[in-house]
Amino acid sequence: MRSIMVLNSKGGSGKSTIATSIASYYASQGKRVVLADCDPQASSLEWLAVRPSGRSSIIGVDGASGNLRIPRSADYVVYDTPAAVHGKELSAFLRRAQSIIIPVLPSPIDMRAATPFIQKVLDNSRVARKEARVALIANRCRENYNIYHQLDTYLRKVRKAPFISVLRETQNYVRAAERGLGIFELAPYSVRRDLDQWDPIIRWLASKRSQPAN
Ligand SMILES: Nc1ncnc2c1ncn2[C@@H]1O[C@H](COP(=O)(O)OP(=O)(O)OP(=O)(O)O)[C@@H](O)[C@H]1O
Ligand SMILES: [Mg+2]
Repeated sequence: MRSIMVLNSKGGSGKSTIATSIASYYASQGKRVVLADCDPQASSLEWLAVRPSGRSSIIGVDGASGNLRIPRSADYVVYDTPAAVHGKELSAFLRRAQSIIIPVLPSPIDMRAATPFIQKVLDNSRVARKEARVALIANRCRENYNIYHQLDTYLRKVRKAPFISVLRETQNYVRAAERGLGIFELAPYSVRRDLDQWDPIIRWLASKRSQPAN
């Protein structure tokens, strides 16, 4: 079973948007997918509740109540996590995942806030031993924003984690979310650029680089 977790202690960085997108991607590929929502806000479970019945099914699991049981038959488990995760709770989350995606908003304040968090994740013993692999994504990037200069400076500080993609700011994510869909399930002509941006993420998840080293 592949386990993928979307994590950032900063609220509103796109964890639920990215977790639901990944879950619906694998479901639409015919995989058995569990979406484990570990956030008491339950955004991912609410997304699942409005998902049209005709769409490929995803099993929702409430991971916020403390008794997290993942059905063994799953091919993929995707974890959505709450904001403000630190200390022992962070270590407990990191024990569950093979692949950890950290979405970061490309603003100086958000990048600064994310830096010590990313460092803590990288210092975790499982991550240091490459039993869990980490990648960063910049999310909600505006086209006219000089993101690359800022990201470049930032990523030099956290260079042990690969930076795999930039997702643009678009209402496509908002529209998909309100309908219980993923970005991969919208009309292809409207999301072509978004799918191009997802391509390196899907490739990373399919590669050994995102999986335990031994
Ligand atoms: N690339 C994007 N373009 C436009 N809107 C986005 C994008 N990514 C996320 N959003 C919107 O930003 C808001 C926050 O996203 P989301 O809920 O996924 O973040 P989160 O990290 O799960 O937040 P929380 O910490 O509260 O759980 C939502 O309204 C979502 O629709
Ligand atoms: Mg969320």
